[in-house]
Amino acid sequence: MRVAMIGTGYVGLVSGTCFSDFGHEVTCIDKDASKIERLKQGEIPIFEPGLDDLVRRNVAAGRLQFDTDLTQAVRGADVVFIAVGTPSRRGDGHADLSYVHAAAREIARTAEGFTVVVTKSTVPVGTGADLEHIIAEAAPEADIAVVSNPEFLREGAAIEDFKRPDRVVIGTDDPRAREVMAALYRPLSLNAAPILFTERNTAELIKYAANAFLAMKITFINEMADLCEKVGGNVQEVARGIGLDGRIGSKFLHAGPGYGGSCFPKDTLALMRTAQEAGAPTRLIETVTTVNESRKAAMGRRVLDALDVPPRGATVAVLGLTFKPNTDDMRDSPAINIVQSLLDRGVKVRAFDPVGMAEARKVLPDSVEYASGPYECAEGADGLVIVTEWDAFRALDLDRLKQLLKSPIVVDLRNIYPPGDLISRGFKYVGIGRGHLPPAAP
Ligand SMILES: NC(=O)c1ccc[n+]([C@@H]2O[C@H](COP(=O)([O-])OP(=O)(O)OC[C@H]3O[C@@H](n4cnc5c(N)ncnc54)[C@H](O)[C@@H]3O)[C@@H](O)[C@H]2O)c1
Repeated sequence: MRVAMIGTGYVGLVSGTCFSDFGHEVTCIDKDASKIERLKQGEIPIFEPGLDDLVRRNVAAGRLQFDTDLTQAVRGADVVFIAVGTPSRRGDGHADLSYVHAAAREIARTAEGFTVVVTKSTVPVGTGADLEHIIAEAAPEADIAVVSNPEFLREGAAIEDFKRPDRVVIGTDDPRAREVMAALYRPLSLNAAPILFTERNTAELIKYAANAFLAMKITFINEMADLCEKVGGNVQEVARGIGLDGRIGSKFLHAGPGYGGSCFPKDTLALMRTAQEAGAPTRLIETVTTVNESRKAAMGRRVLDALDVPPRGATVAVLGLTFKPNTDDMRDSPAINIVQSLLDRGVKVRAFDPVGMAEARKVLPDSVEYASGPYECAEGADGLVIVTEWDAFRALDLDRLKQLLKSPIVVDLRNIYPPGDLISRGFKYVGIGRGHLPPAAP
């Protein structure tokens, strides 16, 4: 089948490439000319494990192309995906649909013959219906069905998630569109991936409900961590103890500095707004967003409190900047809040991230210094904080680290080290949700 993918970001590039790997002919389109130029040169503009290889193979096989202009690709396409950004709208937290609407207008003016237009972008309930109106206004003769097919891939594991999804959700009432979508995803259904056909509104809601639920799960365990710190208890064992219950499940029960990233913060807000306007407020999610925001803000204070010296003029080493490992995505990363609150108190910040430093430079203040590795980052610092649980930080040489730090203080916001490993070496240790700690080394 012929596929046009409008928007070649994390979702568009991964989905487009995977569809081409299934044997479809795919053109990925982006209005960012430099991104398309880099892709044409064989350079991948994002960090996603395995993606470079997959892109190279499918370009070489002639199934995957890149363009800044959608005309040719949309004209010949059976399916046109919209995978552009839907960030929070400034001021009210609604999803900003301006990119989605603009893409729909362009598609309407260009499409020929029956075309299925699919929103892969995360869009509020009712957007599919709005797009139908927009398209009918722009091109009354166009023969287009608008389908919702939300994406659930996780950055860092995106290819595996796309190719072996827990489920594919397709929202449409149009039998022709359903047939086209079933054919498009047939390679997946052969792998026994459940394909769930629903009404379009339901599909749009499923995506927000899934993200809100996961954000709630993280926030729940973060509050249990706070309770463990007050009353004694080990949040990792609490998580294991409840996660082994099949009704609860063990995933998304890692206490940490609060959720961030390109999806949960904006999607919880957008769901809240939709629900408030519909007169069915999601009070749980309203609380989740408030709790998470204050948690992110409190993490800088946790680091400052751990220092043995006054903040002004102190140096803190920050390990990990991206919102999670295996991505270079800095959107809404807790590191942004932590670094800013340290800087606000006059702390000098020296940071290291295995792949996120180029993106970090775009969003963090210029005064942040960047190190070439974790040990260089720690050298002479008055304390070290682990913000992102990259594998490269899981087995650091703790004796070497202790020698390099001016004060052996580690704030482990991801609980990647057993406290005893640090405390027995004479580190001052601060983690998350550890009420009772082993006694300090003499
Ligand atoms: N990133 C994720 O992990 C993830 C997962 C699931 C769903 N989503 C959703 O998918 C959507 C895209 O997210 P993303 O992270 O890939 O965004 P992104 O910002 O990485 O990419 C969006 C791309 O769309 C391009 N674009 C915007 N308007 C365009 C137009 N009219 N024509 C051509 N290109 C255009 C931009 O230049 C950009 O490259 C969002 O709605 C997001 O919520 C993201």
